[in-house]
Amino acid sequence: MTKVIKNGTVLTADRQWTADVLIEGETIKQIGENLSGDEVIDAEGAYVIPGGIDPHTHLEMPFMGTTAAETFESGTWAAATGGTTMLVDFCLPGEDGSIKNAINEWHRKSAPQICSDIGYHMAITGWNESVFAEMKDAVEMGVNSFKHFMAYKGALMIEDDEMFASFKRCRELGALPMVHAENGDLVADMQAEMLAKGITGPEGHAYSRPPEFEGEAANRAITIADAAGTPLYIVHVSCEQAHEAIRRARQKGMRVYGEPLIQFLTLDESEYFHTDWEHAARRVMSPPFRSKDHQDSLWAGLQAGSLQVVATDHAAFTTEQKRMGIDNFTLIPNGSNGLEERLAVLWTKGVETGRLTPEEFVAVTSTNVAKILNIYPQKGAIVEGADADIVVWDPKISKTISPANHHSVLDYNVFEGWEVTAQARHTLSRGEVIWSWGQNSQPQPGRGRFVKRPPFASASKALSQWKELTAPKQIQRDPMNIPAGI
Ligand code: URP
Ligand code: ZN
Ligand code: ZN
Ligand code: ZN
Repeated sequence: MTKVIKNGTVLTADRQWTADVLIEGETIKQIGENLSGDEVIDAEGAYVIPGGIDPHTHLEMPFMGTTAAETFESGTWAAATGGTTMLVDFCLPGEDGSIKNAINEWHRKSAPQICSDIGYHMAITGWNESVFAEMKDAVEMGVNSFKHFMAYKGALMIEDDEMFASFKRCRELGALPMVHAENGDLVADMQAEMLAKGITGPEGHAYSRPPEFEGEAANRAITIADAAGTPLYIVHVSCEQAHEAIRRARQKGMRVYGEPLIQFLTLDESEYFHTDWEHAARRVMSPPFRSKDHQDSLWAGLQAGSLQVVATDHAAFTTEQKRMGIDNFTLIPNGSNGLEERLAVLWTKGVETGRLTPEEFVAVTSTNVAKILNIYPQKGAIVEGADADIVVWDPKISKTISPANHHSVLDYNVFEGWEVTAQARHTLSRGEVIWSWGQNSQPQPGRGRFVKRPPFASASKALSQWKELTAPKQIQRDPMNIPAGI
């Protein structure tokens, strides 16, 4: 059984050209002119792009006294309707602290539900011998990246010495350390200060997490990664201070990656000063949205290549859940939505304005992160032999974003009312059409697969080699030439 995507413009991270794409089973068989197959998918007037990869989601995550409302089923379905065919979710250790058990628990939750492929990152929230040992198990289970929270004091936060130990372990295993860069000690203090002043609303969230706290933590994490000899991936980069740290590190030859979110590129801090409490609380996430200047910095980073990936950090809490913090902003569950909207908003605000080229759009929505996470070109590429995770991306379909037409379980949408000017006409996951514009029929839950990611990505191997070459070495001296002591 073959399918052929006909008459489209194939758009990849490095070029665009007119070609048909032939799919056999789950993979891309051939790319060329005048191809034929058993079934034809029309791409006239549209681009044929690699399916989006969202490397940062929190589906059904237990967090801040509640559980994120988006399920693996609703999340992967919403993703597919927006042109995202793979997501990488953050796995958190449970009460027993075991990494293996946490990964198995994530499998138990996700496997029967997922409509498209997924992977995991594992969170390292403390340090001891069993964490050290189990990081190897995680890598063997196909989880080759570990997130460290420098914020959420008293909960997920990790100390610098623990982070250093974990980063060194990552280097040994060929895994990629990631950080949530915010100075958690300072945030905790500032939160108390805001509450003491009587600032209990969502504006207190923005005030207590200034960009300097993020920049400081980003610099600290970069220093620790350099000392450990490992690449580093900084999640949800929101501001110039963190971007500047990444830029500077990269110019010094350090392998540091930065991930702005679609929310940070397009929404600003004025949301937290909205007089409607619910409006503001729905947008509470960490780090918070920033001012326009910071947005400009992030866009420039994507253009310059100092930032590589646009993600969502999709952590969906309903209005009811957000109300847990009605009297105290520190109790508002942190997180906002974007899994379904990421591609359309980035296209509309990026490509349609000329801030990004169509090729850069593909690079930052799939290809770059597939390389960083070591699943390229199985994912993130339109080449023969790759998984047929493909989107027929129609730059002529407009839509107004609304909770009435989105596929998330949320009762609101942080992009509500926005007009976007491109949509997925068809989304294919390993050769199966799982979404067609105007049809709205959900694919079979459980058809998605967990994608194992091997360790030792190219950059991690290269950096390790360089670090070995330049490591401190003992100087061998001829004992005859060493002056005798007196
Ligand atoms: O506010 C956020 N970002 N919530 C999700 C957890 C995290 O820090 O990534
Ligand atoms: Zn500390
Ligand atoms: Zn985070
Ligand atoms: Zn997150």
